[in-house]
Amino acid sequence: MPITKRSTLTQYLIEERRRYPGADGEFNSLVLDVALACKAISNAVAQGELAGLHGDHVEADMHTTNIQGETQKKLDVLSNNYFIHTNEWSGTLAGMASEEMEHPYQIPSQYPRGKYLLVFDPLDGSSNIDVNVSVGSIFSILRCAGKQNTDVKEADFLQKGSKQVAAGYALYGPTTMLILTVGRGVVGFTLDPVLGEFMLTHENIQIPADTQEFAINASNSRFWEAPIKRYIAECLEGKTGPREKEFNMRWIASMVAEAHRILMRGGVFMYPRDSKDPSKPGRLRLLYEANPIGFIIEQAGGRVSTGHEALLDVTPTSLHQRIGVVFGSANEVERIESYHKMPRTEAFHSPLFGERGLFRE
Ligand code: AHG
Ligand code: MN
Ligand code: MN
Repeated sequence: MPITKRSTLTQYLIEERRRYPGADGEFNSLVLDVALACKAISNAVAQGELAGLHGDHVEADMHTTNIQGETQKKLDVLSNNYFIHTNEWSGTLAGMASEEMEHPYQIPSQYPRGKYLLVFDPLDGSSNIDVNVSVGSIFSILRCAGKQNTDVKEADFLQKGSKQVAAGYALYGPTTMLILTVGRGVVGFTLDPVLGEFMLTHENIQIPADTQEFAINASNSRFWEAPIKRYIAECLEGKTGPREKEFNMRWIASMVAEAHRILMRGGVFMYPRDSKDPSKPGRLRLLYEANPIGFIIEQAGGRVSTGHEALLDVTPTSLHQRIGVVFGSANEVERIESYHKMPRTEAFHSPLFGERGLFRE
């Protein structure tokens, strides 16, 4: 298709807005500012060490850590700054929250404040930056229920995932893509590096209900709960096991890249709650990782769960809350949920869990 026949992100947003005659254009301007941040991050990621951007962020000779105690990469900090600077001035936002900031970000007093909240993981998969594997940015847009023109509070952000107005991610891979849902399905844009525009390349993305591909960090297997152990053991048994089909496994360690693979060809991703560190109920963060990706997955016909309950119905209790996450092809996620509902003895009613089984308890 000639490039000029494709819609740009701007055209897509304007055409969506025509469905809501009362809409004032603030939402569109917010999404376009987020897209600008993603273009700037895409450039920085592509420059990499040419611009001296690999490695850890250092301030006053010290490595810095974020609120989760994780060492910040230079590109984590830079990406966070791009998100802030492209969005703080516009008057569309009441405030922002990010993986890289302990507290909500207040809109500086010289700028007007708006009705939306922007929550983001500026760079997901940071451990992959220095090894040149795909990373991405994840964002979620919420309405701010608090009073306009007062400082935002943590409580304003503690909304269920089902309340999201829009969610998306940019993936910095062989091509840079922007995946977006405004609650009416999922669309994908590819960045044309010459035009500097996100062009609509993937309409109405749908996740197949069945799959033979799973993603999990298997090094945690001894810490998993029984239902996950059972599910994985059955996948590994392949054709001769209860599933009667072979499975394939992938683990990129960038959730955003795993989510993208699942949107493109199906699959199931698990970072479940486990017993590795009792202070951390899961690895991924609810507000800026699990919820936006979960919203996109469900809008593409997939399913997202904690294993124990529907993820988008979880009421958050803190800004940086962690949670167990299972998402992807609907039938597989339902199967995993059903294993969580079984009584313990039944979850283990399989030769795989016997004395000489693959997964002894
Ligand atoms: P972030 O780089 O934003 O801290 O997130 C990394 C997350 C997620 O993207 C990925 O799935 C997971 O951490 C990888 O965890 P392991 O290191 O346990 O594989
Ligand atoms: Mn992340
Ligand atoms: Mn991150």
